[in-house]
Amino acid sequence: MRAARAAATVMRRYQRTGFEVGFKKNRADLVTQADRETERRIRGIIGRAFPGHGVLAEEGGAIAGDGRHRWLIDPIDGTINFVAGFPYYCTSIALEIDGRVELGVVHDPERRELFTAQRGRGAFLNGRRLWVRDERAIERAVLVTGYSYSEHSDQARDTMQVVSHVLTCVRAVRRVGAAALDLANVAAGRFDGFWEAGLNPWDVAAGMLLVEEAGGRTSNGDGKRHRFGDPLLIATNGALHRPLLGLLRASNREM
Ligand code: IPD
Ligand code: CA
Ligand code: CA
Repeated sequence: MRAARAAATVMRRYQRTGFEVGFKKNRADLVTQADRETERRIRGIIGRAFPGHGVLAEEGGAIAGDGRHRWLIDPIDGTINFVAGFPYYCTSIALEIDGRVELGVVHDPERRELFTAQRGRGAFLNGRRLWVRDERAIERAVLVTGYSYSEHSDQARDTMQVVSHVLTCVRAVRRVGAAALDLANVAAGRFDGFWEAGLNPWDVAAGMLLVEEAGGRTSNGDGKRHRFGDPLLIATNGALHRPLLGLLRASNREM
């Protein structure tokens, strides 16, 4: 929590002063001075507190550590929004112990919302207990998704085909631009479900734990336990998990 708050201070400073923007793999894969410095700040705080622990972070890569503890860090999730000045981005930090995520923190510096979860102990927003929304009808569901930044037009077409099928069966499908915050907002009952393909461990580790601890459900595209590297992540309030899985499978069959 301290590291996430320190990250917010760095992000706010860069929002005031401006920053340099660079590219990684393609035109949409951005990295800024702010991403790098925010990550350094988080790694510094965690590294001093737990010098033996491993780290996997988006910008600075991996440190093996003791082989039992690993911190999964996305310093700024939603960098395109951060660059555009659209106030929907966050920091995501999770701790994995012996291959299982035990702690997760997602911090939205714009709304000053700190989402926290500890396995078996619940999910919280600024200290208040969180629960998913009890929506049972898929036609009333408000869903959120994300699409990859790939340059392949066939992949973009497939994505749109899935979205257009789901759209005809639910109340709304949003694309806001920060997967970790999307998951935190499922945990908070603001969205009923989420799906996205091709996410990285640092995007999802904290958010998945938040959803589970808020009474929701997460899985891969086969409805089985999602493991890092699985192509698809689905997270819902639980009641809508099967219906959403069914919709996603049906839209894939149509392709
Ligand atoms: C991205 C955001 C986005 C999602 C992408 C992610 P980044 O993370 O979470 O919503 O659709 O798949 O890569 O690059 O802003 O940290
Ligand atoms: Ca991310
Ligand atoms: Ca990022």
